Amino acid sequence: MTTITLKELRGTALEAALNELAALRIEVFRDFPYLYDGNFDYERDYLSHYRHEQSIIIGAYGGNRLIGAATAGALADHAEAFSQPLVEAGYDPNRMLYCGESVLLKHYRGQGIGHAFFDKREAHGRRLGKTHSLFCAVVRPDNHPLRPEDYQSLEPFWRKRGYLPEQGLLTHYNWKDIDQPEATDKPMQVWLKAL
Ligand SMILES: CC(C)(COP(=O)(O)OP(=O)(O)OC[C@H]1O[C@@H](n2cnc3c(N)ncnc32)[C@H](O)[C@@H]1OP(=O)(O)O)[C@@H](O)C(=O)NCCC(=O)NCCS
Repeated sequence: MTTITLKELRGTALEAALNELAALRIEVFRDFPYLYDGNFDYERDYLSHYRHEQSIIIGAYGGNRLIGAATAGALADHAEAFSQPLVEAGYDPNRMLYCGESVLLKHYRGQGIGHAFFDKREAHGRRLGKTHSLFCAVVRPDNHPLRPEDYQSLEPFWRKRGYLPEQGLLTHYNWKDIDQPEATDKPMQVWLKAL
């Protein structure tokens, strides 16, 4: 089995990894439930949100190749779309860590890298003095035509990590699905954990 090394990337090292991260996102998120018909124009815009002081990428490397990555940063830098509902729910967005994607090529799954991605991002959040960590996950209908029969939800994993879906807290992201002609809005459930 290839030895995987995890690196914490910030600043210029983070910047240097963005193109590889874009390629990983396009490959991994093509599958259900994301079904993302990705392109580098969308990625350039989306990934620009990571060019901030509190942002981090946890890069998983097999040799010199980025085979997986997880991202995190200040909520205020990443997700204005749902800061307001969090404020209304009584949270302080300045003290919240926003976990972006976790993406890992299929070949490398099931050996604990997903746990390590959370461990390292949550440690980063604690170092920054954040009180909560959150992420959002796309909501798809159970009968979606592209849901594979053997699809296993990651929800049990997230719950085991101490995250819970915040009832009624949904945001929307917009991207083009592989089976749609145009980009559409996707409901995204916010999952939250106290650090
Ligand atoms: C999320 C992801 C990075 C996790 O990677 P991973 O290294 O396989 O995760 P781990 O080996 O640490 O396993 C974590 C947990 O996931 C679950 N799991 C492992 N393999 C799984 C699979 N094939 N399907 C569903 N759940 C699985 C298990 O519950 C496991 O926990 P446990 O064995 O400790 O009980 C990877 O599954 C992935 O890239 N998925 C596609 C992208 C995605 O949906 N990302 C999340 C939203 S951004």
